[in-house]
Amino acid sequence: MLAIVVAIFSFKFTVGNVQPSDDGRMAVLLSKDERNMVLLEMRVWLQSSQGILAAATEKNFDAVIKSGKASGMGAEAATPASLFRKLPLEMKALGFDTRRKFDDIAADAGKYRDSSRVLEKLSIAMNNCIGCHEMYRFVETTQ
Ligand code: HEC
Repeated sequence: MLAIVVAIFSFKFTVGNVQPSDDGRMAVLLSKDERNMVLLEMRVWLQSSQGILAAATEKNFDAVIKSGKASGMGAEAATPASLFRKLPLEMKALGFDTRRKFDDIAADAGKYRDSSRVLEKLSIAMNNCIGCHEMYRFVETTQ
């Protein structure tokens, strides 16, 4: 019995709260507040990406570091466990990897103060944006 419960629990944990979407992606079903929260997080990522681009162009590495950190692991702590359980494992992995890449941009900018390195790293990080948007959407549910 316990094994079954554990199996179901870990299956749910891996798969998340998803259903196929008619646009060919997977819909991740979230409450209104949860969806608003992740979309806000997304807008911060977009803001950080632009901030890094603008700062790298001006060779302002302190500003690169600030924008990178704003989207790094340090900003993750606020995500509630209930929301976290609804996200598929693959999506969480991609999300964490994106945060780590923002932290890496900040660290690298501090160490090398080289804008071409920053641009190259941001370009690679933004493949995560494309990859995840291709696979998933967020849909609001009342449950
Ligand atoms: C782990 C998955 C994932 C990653 C990585 C990701 N996104 Fe998203 N993002 C989503 C999903 C899902 C949506 C909702 C799309 C939908 O419902 O059509 C979204 C929506 C957005 C939106 C719309 C926000 C709104 O208010 O409607 C923006 C802007 C955005 N993402 C920017 C980014 C940027 C920039 C990156 C990379 C730095 C990024 N995202 C990386 C999953 C991701």
